[in-house]
Amino acid sequence: MRGVVFDGNDFQVVDDLSVRDPGPGEVAVRIGAAGLCHSDISVISGTIPFPTPVVLGHEGAGVVEAVGDLVTNVKEGDHVVLSTLGNCGACQHCDSGRPTMCRSTFGGRPQPFTWRGEPAYAFANASVFAERTVVKANQAVPIPKDVPMAAASLVGCGVLTGVGAVLQRARVPAGATVLVIGVGGIGLNVIQGAALAGASRIIAVDTNARKRDIALQFGATDFVESTDAVRDLVKAGVDYAFECVGHVALIRAAIDLLDWGGTCIMLGVPESTAEAAFNVAAMYLDKSVLGCRYGSSQPQRDVRRYVDLYRQGRLKLDELVSASYPLEDMKSAVHDLEAGELAARGVLTF
Ligand SMILES: NC(=O)c1ccc[n+]([C@@H]2O[C@H](COP(=O)([O-])OP(=O)(O)OC[C@H]3O[C@@H](n4cnc5c(N)ncnc54)[C@H](O)[C@@H]3O)[C@@H](O)[C@H]2O)c1
Ligand SMILES: [Zn+2]
Ligand SMILES: [Zn+2]
Repeated sequence: MRGVVFDGNDFQVVDDLSVRDPGPGEVAVRIGAAGLCHSDISVISGTIPFPTPVVLGHEGAGVVEAVGDLVTNVKEGDHVVLSTLGNCGACQHCDSGRPTMCRSTFGGRPQPFTWRGEPAYAFANASVFAERTVVKANQAVPIPKDVPMAAASLVGCGVLTGVGAVLQRARVPAGATVLVIGVGGIGLNVIQGAALAGASRIIAVDTNARKRDIALQFGATDFVESTDAVRDLVKAGVDYAFECVGHVALIRAAIDLLDWGGTCIMLGVPESTAEAAFNVAAMYLDKSVLGCRYGSSQPQRDVRRYVDLYRQGRLKLDELVSASYPLEDMKSAVHDLEAGELAARGVLTF
């Protein structure tokens, strides 16, 4: 079958990939559509170190093709959004509703694929840039069949991460002021999450002026091209600042722009050894800095919730799809994302 493999030097679209059948507790999913998130690019650039060869892609949706023994939550033919966690379901973190903290979700490094006689890794337990993948059953969340695959695919990372960061991690209350640095797939979902939460002001910052229209469409009240312009809009600073790029200088800027009692939420992922600085004395004013994995999401609950909001017209998914590419055109999708030509997400189709 076809898929996108990164061999440690470059990525390529191959047609000699295979994936094993689902074992007990696993499902095989035929991918319908998959979004290109910056984290896939970060594997290629080395910002996110990952063993190779690896099949890329972690934001996808598809149709269940086969289920292994003991699978009860989905059946053949179900349409599903895939989550990247595959948590164990049995530890104290799973039991307390924090699957993103389940220790089994990191470093397990499954290798369900075979490429040119060698086992190949699944990126983020998902590998959705392939015609077929095999995941744990609890990574597959069933959705209604009328939801278009491209829209559904983006729930798997961008929406869970961005909206979840606002509603689950920061718990932004109505009336709060919010700053969003970086208006990509993640930042746009932070913006629409903040709008859902009833934020009174949502200031979007992106160095790419082409992001203005979509930022405002998703609910931003203001758009500026530099963090330097934010104090002109809110003298005292903001209650919540989300960094959605992955640059330490922007983490510093986000913290510096907090009002008393403010919270900075770091969503961007810089290189694994990066360190950031902040003024300690300013933190004395009840300020906080929060890390955030995958929107602190509970995928089985939140995917259903977000898809319901979409069907009610309260969450934008179709508008997140800026361009579609057949899988063969992966290079064009990467080029367009890196060149800043996409207002929101590029989506690969199969
Ligand atoms: N925490 C998590 O669980 C999680 C999940 C998914 C993605 N991420 C990370 O989030 C980050 C964003 O991902 P994405 O898919 O939205 O990327 P993206 O490429 O779609 O968007 C990044 C945006 O940042 C803007 N930008 C770049 N430099 C800037 C600057 N100096 N000031 C302001 N804006 C700037 C770009 O113009 C672009 O609009 C990445 O680091 C990614 O790895 C984290
Ligand atoms: Zn992602
Ligand atoms: Zn667990």
